Amino acid sequence: IDLKVVKRDGTELSIQANPGCSVMEALRDNGLDELLALCGGCCSCATCHVYIEAGPNGTDHVGGADEDDLLDSSDHRQENSRLSCQIMLDQKMDGMILRIAPED
Ligand code: FES
Repeated sequence: IDLKVVKRDGTELSIQANPGCSVMEALRDNGLDELLALCGGCCSCATCHVYIEAGPNGTDHVGGADEDDLLDSSDHRQENSRLSCQIMLDQKMDGMILRIAPED
């Protein structure tokens, strides 16, 4: 799966990820250290906030209630906000474009 990531400084990079891992893991495994992901993917810290700029479902917001609550605590929430540890990669997400949200 190929993903494109826009970092906080605006630089773009392309990364490759395997289906079955989360977007947060894929970013971390590719050496992207802008995402703190403090809780390690337990959906309790909201430091893995990203924006879905383009994806297989457009920029639809889908996520669970916990994720929704956490995103609400961010000052930078947008329509297309997601917690990257809660997005499980599958083949359909090939070509997705993500942007790292500003730090809260
Ligand atoms: Fe903590 Fe995603 S890594 S909520």
